[in-house]
Amino acid sequence: DLTRDLAGRHVVVSAGGTREPLDPVRFLGNRSSGKQGYALARSAAARGARVTLVAANAALPDPAGVDVVPVGTAVQLREAVLKAAADADAVVMAAAVADFRPETYAAGKIKKQDGQEPAPIALVRNPDILAEIAGERARPGQVIVGFAAETDDVLANGRAKLARKGCDLLVVNEVGERKTFGAEENEAVVLGADGSETGVPYGPKEALADVVWDLVAERLS
Ligand code: PMT
Repeated sequence: DLTRDLAGRHVVVSAGGTREPLDPVRFLGNRSSGKQGYALARSAAARGARVTLVAANAALPDPAGVDVVPVGTAVQLREAVLKAAADADAVVMAAAVADFRPETYAAGKIKKQDGQEPAPIALVRNPDILAEIAGERARPGQVIVGFAAETDDVLANGRAKLARKGCDLLVVNEVGERKTFGAEENEAVVLGADGSETGVPYGPKEALADVVWDLVAERLS
């Protein structure tokens, strides 16, 4: 019976896009809606898993029976993922995490000054959460899944990212201003650290979620 194949498992899913504040009214963000991550959370819950959903700025209803942890920034997302991952069987990083954040936060709204050039925004690196939890740092038996959002040379970039990040599975999907971000559908190739490549044709984000959990369940048993 495949339908409850994640019963007794604790899985962690990150979803949505981080927002890195510049001042009380502005942030650097991205186009993630959270839909792919929420589909993963719903699918895992339906298959019997206990699910922790770390949700960054997603305006979506809480999936039934799922423990939702709302976060804003990449640093907050890291804290929540590391905490939940400590006793998790699998972690799926579907969130779009900012690689950089503004170096400084202005406590008051940044004002434009008459006749002055705009000040450049200095950025600093955010922690790479996926690299931090994958590979040698994973708990024994834990399955770590990353996503790769690419606009060009999609598969080649995905293969390089799999090697760099050290995760067990990497879901490679193409993105654009209106492609995948916010859409109900997705298509992807899921790369395995074992060299496997699983194509998932264009269809509902739930269908891709189910393939991801199939591949995770194979690796857990
Ligand atoms: O939310 P939707 O509108 O449904 O859109 C879905 C999606 C396009 C956001 C999703 O399918 C997707 O591709 N998510 C990953 C987006 C992303 O940040 O990709 P990346 O290639 O920049 O990062 C690679 C991986 O490293 C990701 O698993 C990411 O979560 C993780 N990462 C990235 C940067 C960072 N500092 N820490 C990380 O852990």
